[in-house]
Amino acid sequence: MTDSKKNAESSGKTIDVLLEEGRTFAPAKDFVKQANFSDPALYKEAGKDSVAFWEKCASKLDWFQKWNKALEWKAPDAKWFIGGKLNASYNCVDRHIKNGLRNKAALIWEGEPGDKRTMTYWDLYREVNKFANGLKSLGIKKGDRVAIYLPMIPELAVAMLACSRIGAVHSVVFAGFSPEALKDRINDMEANLLITADGGYRRGGVIPLKNDADIALSDTPSIKHVIVVNRGGFKTDMKDGRDHWYHELVDAAEAFCEPEHMDSEDMLFTLYTSGTTGKPKGIVHTTGGYMTGAYTTTKYVFDLKDDDVYWCTADIGWVTGHTYIVYGPLSNGATVVMYEGAPDWPDKSRFWKIVEDYGVTIFYTAPTAIRAFMRWGVEYPAKHDLSTLRLLGTVGEPINPEAWMWYHKNIGGEKCPIVDTWWQTETGCILITPLPGITTTKPGSATVPFPGIEADILDEAGNSIKVGGGFLVITKPWPSMIRTIYGDHDRYYETYWKKYNGKYYFTGDGAKRDEDGFFWLLGRVDDVINVAGHRLSTMEIESALVDHPDVAESAAVGVNHEIKGQSIKAFVTLKDGVEPGDGMEKKLKAHVVKMIGAIARPESIIFSAELPKTRSGKIMRRLLKDIAEGRVLGDTSTLADPNVVEALKEKYEED
Ligand code: PRX
Repeated sequence: MTDSKKNAESSGKTIDVLLEEGRTFAPAKDFVKQANFSDPALYKEAGKDSVAFWEKCASKLDWFQKWNKALEWKAPDAKWFIGGKLNASYNCVDRHIKNGLRNKAALIWEGEPGDKRTMTYWDLYREVNKFANGLKSLGIKKGDRVAIYLPMIPELAVAMLACSRIGAVHSVVFAGFSPEALKDRINDMEANLLITADGGYRRGGVIPLKNDADIALSDTPSIKHVIVVNRGGFKTDMKDGRDHWYHELVDAAEAFCEPEHMDSEDMLFTLYTSGTTGKPKGIVHTTGGYMTGAYTTTKYVFDLKDDDVYWCTADIGWVTGHTYIVYGPLSNGATVVMYEGAPDWPDKSRFWKIVEDYGVTIFYTAPTAIRAFMRWGVEYPAKHDLSTLRLLGTVGEPINPEAWMWYHKNIGGEKCPIVDTWWQTETGCILITPLPGITTTKPGSATVPFPGIEADILDEAGNSIKVGGGFLVITKPWPSMIRTIYGDHDRYYETYWKKYNGKYYFTGDGAKRDEDGFFWLLGRVDDVINVAGHRLSTMEIESALVDHPDVAESAAVGVNHEIKGQSIKAFVTLKDGVEPGDGMEKKLKAHVVKMIGAIARPESIIFSAELPKTRSGKIMRRLLKDIAEGRVLGDTSTLADPNVVEALKEKYEED
């Protein structure tokens, strides 16, 4: 028995660790030679004095006035770079205009129908300034809240930067959200203005954003003005006095808008979490700390260089897009690829065509996307030249080792390091990750905390678990940490701090630490299944199922069981072309037993063409549990496609 298994058994109330992964990938010599950071001493240095490390990072931004104190920490309230003044948009555009990058491509954008647009840093600077003046002309000022409900078009990045230029707090609502969800978010933040578009393209269809917004706006008393981007000349009703065309405002605006000198602790944005459980929370981020985290991690984790073509496939409606499409890469002066539409439109090789067309060098996506690519088959990436790629990343969920290996081989050509980056909307930037020129990676592990970050794994009582599974906490404040939940500081304490009496930030994730001190994320702790006193992570069971060559995706849930406490039900999507047929259920159960042990054998397996997911691609196990236990479904408002659940429910009841 390995140490981690022994420890898991003795740790009782945390999470048992059963799956072992032994493959390792050291950084290639050629990569190390050219890497921004290749000296492991970096960790030691940052660990000795993390505040000094973060001060050094912050000093790489442009400040109008330097801070006089780096950190004030009275848990759970942190203030970073106190007294410092800066502006986020100044750091993303103005400073590059002055530093020789004015003609460099900032955004290379492609619309789903194939229309293209490139904005240099100069273009972006002009547009941000003008739109900032446009916002001002409608009375928007520092501290006001602006809701943004736009498709993935350049104006989305422009709108965020224009808000930050004048000190207005933006709150982006993902364009796939319903009018109801938009309304709730606008009302929660009491937004003064909404920026939307006449529509956006998705899988060949048009999302009628302005029409949806109009439904929401029937019940949002705080909104005084609406700005509408003309994306496709779609039919739109404009309400006199309230609705304004984006291009008319920009055309009429002055060319320069003085950037507001923001206090380091002034709010930069709120963003509502996708919420696999409960009512969405408005996560609050402030200016100096967030920008420091975004700038630094982008440079270190992606090994960003001047000539890179960087593509993060997330939607800007999620925090990944905020930090790693807009604020991180642009503050670094990077060239950022932005794509409006779906990965399988007009066919399943669209992403790889984009990589080839623009010579993408850094590619950052989510495990759910990688599993979809696997399911579609290698013929799609194989059709394209992906040789410009030099680094790959993943984020959003634990990546099962088989998906990691597939990504490594079929996208990375076995030469690109993979950075599996763990973080949250609340953390603002990546906290657990390899550094590609330093860290030896293990498929499925996010590896170790970023320099200057201290994480631990605790049991229920707060004891540190050196090897084995438990609850992931962050033990020291970091600059880009959440400051509060908008309008509900008590909920902030309850959610993140109460579990360990205000001492540590509780992530809500389970994780294990192996003998080398590497972290392996095990999913949300609410998802842990307790079978006869063994606490199993859903992630490990799912990973074992996906390891089977016929399985594309899976979700495991615990349902009440008279004797064992809970038993395991697994929902499985098979690869394209594979039928459930005779004996498949038996085969898959045997595979789980082989990979993990008899304790993890699913009691039953339900085959389904799709699994219910949030719009950001996270499987909603809570709903699967409701189905499996025959309950009325809980909140389904964050579900990407409600039909999937209905179909599953019917199927389950038939079975
Ligand atoms: O459970 C973890 C999972 O995603 C959660 C955060 O979700 P969200 O706030 O929507 O932000 C997603 C993008 C940062 C985490 O609590 N998660 C994120 N990245 C990873 C991950 N789980 C495992 N490995 C990751 N790399």
